[in-house]
Amino acid sequence: MKFARIAAATLAFAALGAGAATADDIETAVEARQGQFKLFSFNIGPLVEMAQGDIEYDADTATTAAENLAKVTTLQQDRLWPEGSDTESIDDTRALPAIWEDLDDFADKHAALGEATAELEMVAGDGLDELRGAIGAVGNACSACHDDYREEQ
Ligand code: HEC
Repeated sequence: MKFARIAAATLAFAALGAGAATADDIETAVEARQGQFKLFSFNIGPLVEMAQGDIEYDADTATTAAENLAKVTTLQQDRLWPEGSDTESIDDTRALPAIWEDLDDFADKHAALGEATAELEMVAGDGLDELRGAIGAVGNACSACHDDYREEQ
């Protein structure tokens, strides 16, 4: 299961950058990808709060949130990142042009998140210590990509 997920995350970028998109297509794609990231933050939220002791650990909530995180990493990415949807081309995005200069690295960073969330999914329901042991790698995978490819606010 875990390896199937990683393979899916890698394949998620197979056709990235292919095809021309209209302005409407671009706006829709940007909104959709921002929605994907909102789902990441919505689901990582309670996991981080549990890990930090801000809310009580609950195995069911942790399992569901970790499953959702892992699932969202398997979404096919190519239509979400059309050429011309970077910060230099349009408003209302924080996606840096560097993404399209090194799509392989961007895809690798996405795959790394898939790997970290698959690990988290396997242990999130096993206890607070297990959750704490796996959440750091997920947070690092988010930051690694943001550091290189997301414009600071
Ligand atoms: C492969 C790179 C990559 C990974 C991995 C990644 N992000 Fe992002 N994230 C981005 C980029 C690029 C944007 C800017 C998208 C845009 O504005 O078009 C973004 C935007 C966001 C936003 C703002 C969304 C909005 O409403 O505009 C949030 C929140 C976010 N990411 C959270 C996360 C979390 C949480 C994780 C880890 C679970 C994560 N991201 C992993 C690249 C990444």
